[in-house]
Amino acid sequence: MSERVALITGSTSGIGAATARRLARDGYKVALHSRRSADVGKQMAAELPGASYHQADLADEAALRGLVAAVVAHHGRLDVLINNAGESIRIPHADLKAATPAVWRRMLDVNLIAPFVLITEAESALRTSAEGGRPACVINIGTHSGVRPKGASIPYAVAKAGLHHATRLLALTLGPAIRVNCVAPGLVETPMAAGWPEATELWNTKSPMRRAARPEDIADLVAALVANDYVTGEIVIADGGLNLT
Ligand SMILES: NC(=O)c1ccc[n+]([C@@H]2O[C@H](COP(=O)([O-])OP(=O)(O)OC[C@H]3O[C@@H](n4cnc5c(N)ncnc54)[C@H](OP(=O)(O)O)[C@@H]3O)[C@@H](O)[C@H]2O)c1
Repeated sequence: MSERVALITGSTSGIGAATARRLARDGYKVALHSRRSADVGKQMAAELPGASYHQADLADEAALRGLVAAVVAHHGRLDVLINNAGESIRIPHADLKAATPAVWRRMLDVNLIAPFVLITEAESALRTSAEGGRPACVINIGTHSGVRPKGASIPYAVAKAGLHHATRLLALTLGPAIRVNCVAPGLVETPMAAGWPEATELWNTKSPMRRAARPEDIADLVAALVANDYVTGEIVIADGGLNLT
């Protein structure tokens, strides 16, 4: 286990940072990544055994394509890819004109096309990993609003719904060498979800668990899917049961 390497995109904050810390505890060498927060990334890399930090804007295709190559050049292998980095935008669903083509393109670029490109770049290294006897693993971070008609905005929810469907298609295409799953959180206490009192109120009053998730709740679930060698093609909702209401 000590040689295995996991790339976690968007791992300087929120769910990604908790996942990086959790996988490091599980014995992975983690490749941290972010867009701007290089100081945080370098600090985390210094704290976690064998970790590295890499900077790339997911909206910049060349930088994106270089990311996996940089990780493999540094660590010599890649066993797990967590497509966690994403961007949201809050637009009331009824305000159709505010969801401009530029907003749609940004949401699709960063939340759907970038994770797909990273998987294509990682495929070869992940297949090599699988030759060691365990399937390699991709986990995409989606959202409950990609499953149910809810969420911060229509373009964000639709882009993530596309990521969910890509998860299933890729699981079918890449097995048995590479498992592909998706974790779809509800509200999680991170900077992305900050300053959204209506959502917090909803989770505190209506969800069976009566609270939003902490980043560690999602990281634990990601770690369980990474540890499992059989599950593939699943969209696992982690919303404290809100979808039941
Ligand atoms: N928080 C929630 O309630 C919630 C719910 C459902 C799903 N999610 C999903 O969970 C994932 C993580 O969200 P979070 O709440 O943990 O976010 P967060 O705390 O805001 O952290 C986002 C991370 O992604 C990086 N990032 C953002 N845009 C990027 C870009 N264009 N290129 C490269 N890196 C980029 C950020 O780097 P910089 O800081 O350097 O920009 C940061 O490391 C996202 O995919 C999000 O859609 C979140």
